[in-house]
Amino acid sequence: MMMTVTPPSTSLQTVSVALAGCPRTYPIIIGAGVLNNLPLLLKIHVFKNNQSGKVLIVTDKTVAGLYLNTVENSLKAEGVLTQTFVVPTGEIAKTADQLSQLYEACHAFGISRRDVVLALGGGVVGDLSGYAAATYYRGCQFVQVPTTLLAQVDSSVGGKVAVNFKDVKNAIGTFYQPSLVVADTACIETLPQRERLAGLAEMVKYALIEQAALGNETPLTAETSFLAHYEAVGSNWAENLPSLIANCCQLKAAVVARDEQESAASDDATGRVCLNLGHTFAHAYESALGYGVLLHGEAVAIGLMQAFWLAERLHLVSTQTANRVQNLLETLNLFPIALPKLPTVDELVALMRKDKKVLKADGLRFVLPTDPIGSLVVDDTVPVADVIAVLERYHHAI
Ligand code: NAD
Ligand code: GLY
Repeated sequence: MMMTVTPPSTSLQTVSVALAGCPRTYPIIIGAGVLNNLPLLLKIHVFKNNQSGKVLIVTDKTVAGLYLNTVENSLKAEGVLTQTFVVPTGEIAKTADQLSQLYEACHAFGISRRDVVLALGGGVVGDLSGYAAATYYRGCQFVQVPTTLLAQVDSSVGGKVAVNFKDVKNAIGTFYQPSLVVADTACIETLPQRERLAGLAEMVKYALIEQAALGNETPLTAETSFLAHYEAVGSNWAENLPSLIANCCQLKAAVVARDEQESAASDDATGRVCLNLGHTFAHAYESALGYGVLLHGEAVAIGLMQAFWLAERLHLVSTQTANRVQNLLETLNLFPIALPKLPTVDELVALMRKDKKVLKADGLRFVLPTDPIGSLVVDDTVPVADVIAVLERYHHAI
């Protein structure tokens, strides 16, 4: 079914990702119907100085059925030369084989460095196209048009691009920033409910890392805090999407501007590692259940609650703070997350010991919340007994 896209909104929000080296700074333009403004936005932000170029649209089969005609027609109407490369839907498209076929498409279309690879879709399409854009002729122009909530708040921003290799997720990748991100919030209306909630979990994560993401520089108040904003909108979050998405992008932009390439060994919880709150738990559940059983965001929702309970046991946050987070997750239908089967706690701990962030063999490393809420610490001294207690607490709550 082809979707009719909402007319462009008058209230577009722009977030700037300010990176060292002025030409690398890029805008994220957010709003309902903004897809219709794509030719103009490309002209202003990508084809500067009245130059034009070709656009290779990369999308997946599902998104192609919904939004491809709109994008192709609007570009063609402005005389932009386009071609389209459609990949299968889902994680199976993030492979070296699809990448190789995408290079073929770039070659056949005669893409030059000033031409554009445009990702129209979720994080899968964004990661695959971004890696192709980064490497074809050592880098051509890259534009992200994210159509999932997760991609609008996370994967389209910050320049991580990759494909999977054998059984290793994102094994072949690099950092390559887009020139422009266009997030049409009307696209979220067609997203399946499970995918929306998975994206919402990553959005809540931003509210829970806000102080760290801002580099601890600006003290938050009840009036300015993103978390308070979430608590106020509660289950009406979907009606406030453009402003919530803009908030998430502002926080990610602040983190990426400080730590673009993730200083991995750093203990500084204001670096890119802060985006991993809840992720040590989340990756263990995803891996234990088999990739694809849980959506990543569902696993993140589990991991966020467990991170706050662990921090409560370690006296990093008060019980009141942990309860506050539980209430919010409950209101948003993100707690508890039902599991098709319960992995054993031993299996989960063993998987956590293999987490990429762990520095010592067989160690454990967590990004944990600390009061005041929004602040974080990186901790590799957590006793395993506390981790087990938290896993069991969650399993009893299901
Ligand atoms: P996805 O790209 O597979 O999209 C999820 C599903 O939604 C797909 O079936 C897709 O066809 C469908 N879809 C997309 N837009 C739609 C719309 N508007 N209406 C209806 N259906 C739509 O998954 P995702 O959750 O967007 O992204 C997950 C990927 O992102 C993973 O590969 C992950 O590794 C990656 N990721 C990357 C980063 C990064 O920083 N680069 C961050 C987080 C995740
Ligand atoms: N999604 C984590 C990051 O971009 O660093």
